[in-house]
Amino acid sequence: MDNDKKSLPVGVFDSGLGGISVLRRLVKVLPDEDFIFYGDSANAPYGSRTADDILQLTENAADRLLSYGVKAIVIACNTASSAAGRQLREKYKNMPIICIEPALKPAVQEGHGGAVAVLATEATLRLSKFAHLMDLYGKKIDIIKLPLPGLPEFVERGELDSDKLRDFLTEKFAVLKGRNVESAVLGCTHYPFVRPMIQSILGQDVKLYDGADGTARQTRRCLESYGLLNGNGNAHVEWHNSAGNQDEFIKRSKMLFKMKI
Ligand code: DGL
Repeated sequence: MDNDKKSLPVGVFDSGLGGISVLRRLVKVLPDEDFIFYGDSANAPYGSRTADDILQLTENAADRLLSYGVKAIVIACNTASSAAGRQLREKYKNMPIICIEPALKPAVQEGHGGAVAVLATEATLRLSKFAHLMDLYGKKIDIIKLPLPGLPEFVERGELDSDKLRDFLTEKFAVLKGRNVESAVLGCTHYPFVRPMIQSILGQDVKLYDGADGTARQTRRCLESYGLLNGNGNAHVEWHNSAGNQDEFIKRSKMLFKMKI
C-alpha cells in the first residue's frame, strides 16, 4: 500500500453532531490518524425518517466524504448504519466502511439477569439490523426498546442540561419504573452528550453502555487489515456541516468535541 493513501484522513459521518461522541474515541484509539467529520445537521434528525430516505441521505454523505479524499468511512450514526451500512459496503467495494451498532452485546454479557433498556431512534429499533441483534443477544433477557424521538434535537441545539430536558427524559423513562432495569444502552450517538442527565434520572445503579469504544477499536482493526494505518498523522480534525449556519454548527461541534462527559 502506498504511503500517500495511508496518509489520507478517515471520514466520520453522522446525521448531525452526535457522531462527535464516536470521533472523540477514534482520536484516542487512533492518535496517528487525521479525520474529517461531516455532520448532516440540515437533515437531522434521521431517526423518524423512512429507510429509503435515510439510505439516500447516507449515500449523499458518503459521496461528499469521498469527494474530500478520505481512505475510510466511519458511519458514526446507529440509524444510518442500520438503514445503509450494508448497501454502502456493496456500492463502495474497495472502501473500508465501519458501522456502529447499539452495544447490546456487552450489556447482556456483563449483566446479572436484570432488564436492559435500549435507548435509540425509532428507525434503529424498527429496522432488521436490530432484530438480528435481539436474536443474537436478547433471547433470555428482558430487553426494553425505548425510542426517544426529540432527544437528538436537544443535542443539536447544544441544550444538554436544562429543566426542559430533565422533564422530557423523566416522562420518557416513566415506562421503565418497576421493570428491574440493570443497564441501559445508549443506542444513538447523540445520547452520550446527555449521559449525566440520563444517569441521574435512571439512578447511579443503572450501568450505561455506548458503542463508541467498540467502533473505534473496530476502525483500528479494519484499517490494519486494509494496510491503511497511518503512523504520521496527529489527530487533526477538519470540520464540515450541511447546516445553513455552518459556522455556528462547527463552533458547537468543537465545543462538544472538547466537553467532559
Ligand atoms: N445520531 C443518530 C444515531 O446514532 C441519530 C440521530 C437522528 O435521529 O438523526 O442513531
